[in-house]
Amino acid sequence: MFNGKVAMVTGAASGIGRSTAVELAKKGASVVISDVDKERLAETEKLISDEGGEVMSLPADVSSAGEVSGMVEETMKKYSRLDVAVNNAGIGGDLAPTADYTEEGWDRVLNINLKGQWLCMKNQIPVMLKNDGGSIVNITSILGKVGFANAPAYVAAKHGLIGLTRTAALEYSAKGVRVNAVAPAFIVTPMLEDAGLLSDPEAKQGLVDLHPIGRLGEPKEVADAIIWLASDEASFVTGHTLMVDGGYTSR
Ligand SMILES: NC(=O)c1ccc[n+]([C@@H]2O[C@H](COP(=O)([O-])OP(=O)(O)OC[C@H]3O[C@@H](n4cnc5c(N)ncnc54)[C@H](O)[C@@H]3O)[C@@H](O)[C@H]2O)c1
Repeated sequence: MFNGKVAMVTGAASGIGRSTAVELAKKGASVVISDVDKERLAETEKLISDEGGEVMSLPADVSSAGEVSGMVEETMKKYSRLDVAVNNAGIGGDLAPTADYTEEGWDRVLNINLKGQWLCMKNQIPVMLKNDGGSIVNITSILGKVGFANAPAYVAAKHGLIGLTRTAALEYSAKGVRVNAVAPAFIVTPMLEDAGLLSDPEAKQGLVDLHPIGRLGEPKEVADAIIWLASDEASFVTGHTLMVDGGYTSR
């Protein structure tokens, strides 16, 4: 599906990003993986290379303009092209009501979850335009469509990312770069584990009950949707946000 293509995945040390990078490599892509967590990024690299996949690790912080441009430059130095970008790196951030949220907490979430995705696109789009175009998939959330008490910064960033995705799609689709988003509901990843949402059975059941399908999602179920949008199978799809949410937003 992706033979001869180069795919970049941010936040690839964990969860949805790791699963997506592994699946892209299985489907023939040369995969550039990036994250701030160097140790766990090395684990993802090993998972891919042990299966015979082509992979390059480039640790980078997506909220740093210099590190993001360096990541794309290094990719071009090695592969001379970029066909697919999955802008997935993100954090949950602090939980507090809007009036109690700290400026520091707000800036951190917005810088990583919204500015970071913009910085990635800012650097990825020009190199895609120089080749045969490309496909970008930004990872937003159900919380890009609906509100969630005590997560104002996360909800604002994920809503903003849907607007940014639509805007970039308007600007670049006719030039060969499709831009879409995937919006997962609650997925079993370290993000939920670290927030203590999976260890407490009551909290976990509370989350499950929000999903009409009756369970939480698995990273590969999100990766499969990302891969479809990234591939030529979705050649007429752009500016779209694909809900991968077990019915969460259908209520
Ligand atoms: N897990 C869920 O329930 C869920 C639901 C909806 C959306 N999402 C979104 O999916 C994406 C992946 O989340 P996940 O659940 O796999 O989380 P995760 O915590 O397992 O993985 C996120 C990765 O991003 C990396 N990261 C954090 N800050 C970074 C930065 N500044 N620069 C580069 N990398 C950075 C982390 O080190 C981590 O490896 C995020 O954008 C998240 O908001 C997750």
